[in-house]
Amino acid sequence: MKAPIKVAVTGAAGQIGYSLLPRIASGSVFGPDQPVELRLIEIPNALKPLEGVVMELNDCSFPLLSNIVATADLDEGFSGANWALLVGSVPRKAGMERKDLLGINGKIFISQGAAIAKNAASDVRVVVVGNPCNTNCLIAMNNGRDVPSDRWFAMTRLDENRAKSQLATKAGVHSTAVSNVAIWGNHSSTLYPDFENAKINGKPVTSVITDTQWLENDFIKSVQLRGAAIIEARGLSSAKSAAHGVVDTVRSIIEPTAAGDFHSVALCSDGSYGIEAGLITSFPVRSNGSKLEIVQGLPLSDFSKGKIEATVNELKQEREMVKELIPA
Ligand code: NAD
Ligand code: LMR
Repeated sequence: MKAPIKVAVTGAAGQIGYSLLPRIASGSVFGPDQPVELRLIEIPNALKPLEGVVMELNDCSFPLLSNIVATADLDEGFSGANWALLVGSVPRKAGMERKDLLGINGKIFISQGAAIAKNAASDVRVVVVGNPCNTNCLIAMNNGRDVPSDRWFAMTRLDENRAKSQLATKAGVHSTAVSNVAIWGNHSSTLYPDFENAKINGKPVTSVITDTQWLENDFIKSVQLRGAAIIEARGLSSAKSAAHGVVDTVRSIIEPTAAGDFHSVALCSDGSYGIEAGLITSFPVRSNGSKLEIVQGLPLSDFSKGKIEATVNELKQEREMVKELIPA
């Protein structure tokens, strides 16, 4: 039997937490032979509902769940963590952009970044989900600089999955026929779902879906605005699909990527594709099971370059908005 890995999850009593925790505890994330210890972090006011979440997890008798720690103390919560899934933060309401949350949520990631650097395992990897996730990740990374910059991620996998679903529906195929969907830039209404490099059954999307008007307009907008559409319909932001996005994100990092394919995650730019180094930007990535790399050399049309420039510019504006939260 393998030794348990420690997985810290913030906002564990929230909506995404409720969908995500059983996926982790049942082995859907780290594999059917990998025991896990859950370290559940909440604000003091949410410790009571968290108690209920812990009771339910215990009542599932998950064979792989070795221990649960529930706490409002960041040092305790992140102690020895191999993974830190930073979900805890306030979701937006209808009519808001995600960056409107920076004033409320940004500061959360100062202490969390520092506590991860101080307490987590030396191999810790961090996935930020709480919005606006790219810039929250930038804040956490810069307040936890003892953790190397290639261990910090923000989630755009939900956008990739949404794009696949939209393309599959338009082409009349199952979403598993869609591959190579890169999300570029920010998890926001400026994100760019790159249909020019995407494939359906191994063929370029543009040769299968010839409605260029739809690809350049309705498709892009539908992915950019999907989160808002869900809030409008549900009165609450996405949770089940977001939790599934976290599962896919982690698995895409720790499992080898299928030959010829790639996935999307926001990570610290190394200057690839001319995107300023240090920005937490979504790129197409491939993993060999232990190392993740940005896919190089994808052709980008002027249309794509313009869309990428716009979303990267928004990331720079967000960085400016939180400059006091980022140490020099
Ligand atoms: P929720 O309100 O249901 O739950 C959030 C939880 O976080 C609450 O239990 C709250 O007590 C807790 N929390 C708040 N501040 C905290 C802190 N400092 N430390 C620990 N816990 C804290 O919200 P939700 O639906 O679970 O969404 C959580 C976040 O995820 C939101 O910011 C939402 O916008 C974001 N989100 C991101 C994506 C993405 O694709 N990146 C997708 C969906 C939702
Ligand atoms: C989403 O994309 O569903 C989340 O980021 C929640 C939101 O605010 O849209």
